[in-house]
Amino acid sequence: MGIIDVHTHFVPNGWPDLGDGLPWLRPETEREAMIMIGSTEFRRVQEDAWNADVRLADMDADGVEKQVVSPTPVFFSYDRDPGEAEKISRIFNDLALEICSPASDRLVPFCQVPLQDTDAACRELERAISSGHRGVEIGNHVGDRDLDDAGIVTFLQHAASLNVPVFVHPWDMGESPRLNRWMARWLSGMPAETHLSIISLILGGVLDRVSSDLRICFAHGGGSFAFWLGRFENAWHRRPDLIATSEHPPSHYVDRLSVDSVVFTPTALRTLVDTLGASQVMVGSDYPYPLGERPVANVVHRAGFLSDGDRDAILRSNALRFLG
Ligand code: CO
Repeated sequence: MGIIDVHTHFVPNGWPDLGDGLPWLRPETEREAMIMIGSTEFRRVQEDAWNADVRLADMDADGVEKQVVSPTPVFFSYDRDPGEAEKISRIFNDLALEICSPASDRLVPFCQVPLQDTDAACRELERAISSGHRGVEIGNHVGDRDLDDAGIVTFLQHAASLNVPVFVHPWDMGESPRLNRWMARWLSGMPAETHLSIISLILGGVLDRVSSDLRICFAHGGGSFAFWLGRFENAWHRRPDLIATSEHPPSHYVDRLSVDSVVFTPTALRTLVDTLGASQVMVGSDYPYPLGERPVANVVHRAGFLSDGDRDAILRSNALRFLG
């Protein structure tokens, strides 16, 4: 009865040449490769990105029973032609099933979809779920379209109607020389992107319209959202720009959202638990990437303020509910 980790990623170690400008993998050694975008080195990955045995050994070491295995966002391809993006989704989704197949009771695959085209996204979601995927990971925006975009809302409603959990991951953190230093896109861009997505979900009235069956989880503790909910709430009550955007004040909706626990300090975890409720937090690690947490769930184990019941919920039972 171990931990369930809802935030991990995979990279397959072999995929066909997908064409100009799309990521490709440059083998470095048998156990290491470089994700390339054109001639630019994007990220060095090790075999834990694709080798089930390595992943299972790491899971055993950290007491993880199951992990959700999601795409690495650089492959979403939302800026490509929809037909091309649908083909890429199919290839990566099928490779994910191969990676997870040696331990299908422990490695839980989440698919990607061509979210720029609602019909294609719904089609690939259905295909992937019927072939063994258990949920979907989406990027937090498609270009300038946020989560309140009509097409994305239709997709979310479709996922809810199929009883498919949705994991939202920040990606595409903008272009500016100011972001080119110090991993700024990861350190400040990702939490801000996720915060903006939750704002769009609430103020765009999505949670008023979409079925409460929608199970949606945001990566990295929901970014900056929990810390700034008070500012958001104040604005909703006092700024005319926000009046009548959502039926209720932002705090009304917190139990419609889940977040993962990869926030590293008990103080930050406490903010999540106090703001959203212990029922809305699940273990995430961002495995196998270096910005992730090892051992998995370390912050949950260190959080002395948690009751035994809340700790068990965060380590496991909330994720069982999320996964359905
Ligand atoms: Co991640």
